[in-house]
Amino acid sequence: MKYMQYDQQSNGATAAVPVIRVWKLSKDYYLGRTVVPALSAVDLEIARGEFVAIMGPSGSGKSTLMNILGCLDRPTSGNYWLDGIPVGEMSAGELADVRNREIGFVFQNFNLLPWMTALANVQLPLVYAGVPTEQREQRALWALAMVGLASRAHHRPMELSGGQQQRVAIARALVNAPSLILADEPTGNLDSRTSMEILTILQRLNARGITVVLVTHEADIATYCCSRKVTFRDGRVMQDTVNVTPAMAQERLLRQLPTEGER
Ligand SMILES: Nc1ncnc2c1ncn2[C@@H]1O[C@H](COP(=O)(O)OP(=O)(O)OP(=O)(O)O)[C@@H](O)[C@H]1O
Ligand SMILES: [Mg+2]
Repeated sequence: MKYMQYDQQSNGATAAVPVIRVWKLSKDYYLGRTVVPALSAVDLEIARGEFVAIMGPSGSGKSTLMNILGCLDRPTSGNYWLDGIPVGEMSAGELADVRNREIGFVFQNFNLLPWMTALANVQLPLVYAGVPTEQREQRALWALAMVGLASRAHHRPMELSGGQQQRVAIARALVNAPSLILADEPTGNLDSRTSMEILTILQRLNARGITVVLVTHEADIATYCCSRKVTFRDGRVMQDTVNVTPAMAQERLLRQLPTEGER
């Protein structure tokens, strides 16, 4: 395995417009008179096709960054260009549209609606996108098949394991064929074997050209299985390294997760 400091030459993507480009990005939260600086002048570019792990201690600004990248929140200052388009200049309607079409979200606690079947949950983004009813089911079944859950389409979340629920959530993130998947600790509530299964799915999607940004506390995943690792501390990028030969989670799974001494 070969690691190097990230720079724009190392991933061979200099010519293309980055999917994500933020610079001097800051976010302050205001609690009464107290200012909480969550992000401080962050510069970050992510090229199409990268699989980026975001790491850092609790409170270092990872979720704040993901919410801004996902157009769920706006920065206090600085710039964010998504696919070459300045997000700050988009209207609320344009933002909602981009969010729905281009970005798939996966959260730690799955965020599935408990009273709906897997199929209905996966169809929801299509409802918001105004996709005609007859197409919705077909596309949702395709997305469930992509995560290996076609046979569980009519199960409700409580009838599924944690890993299966997260796969349904990934299918929901996928159903609009986004170019970017943002996953904020998607394996945080799962055991290590199930985490590797989820990672296998994310790597397969990445191999199909979807850019993946993954927040994780699992050093093993970030260091070995992603093409780049960006580490935050106190709202700043502390370290940015490229892994030229990321390991396939599937292979690690087959080897039953080596113990510490075997690495
Ligand atoms: N809505 C909010 N109002 C006020 N402060 C907030 C809010 N959201 C986050 N913060 C603060 O901003 C900082 C960054 O929080 P953030 O949730 O981005 O951290 P994180 O890196 O995702 O942490 P974790 O690993 O625990 O999820 C923290 O100091 C947090 O207390
Ligand atoms: Mg967080």
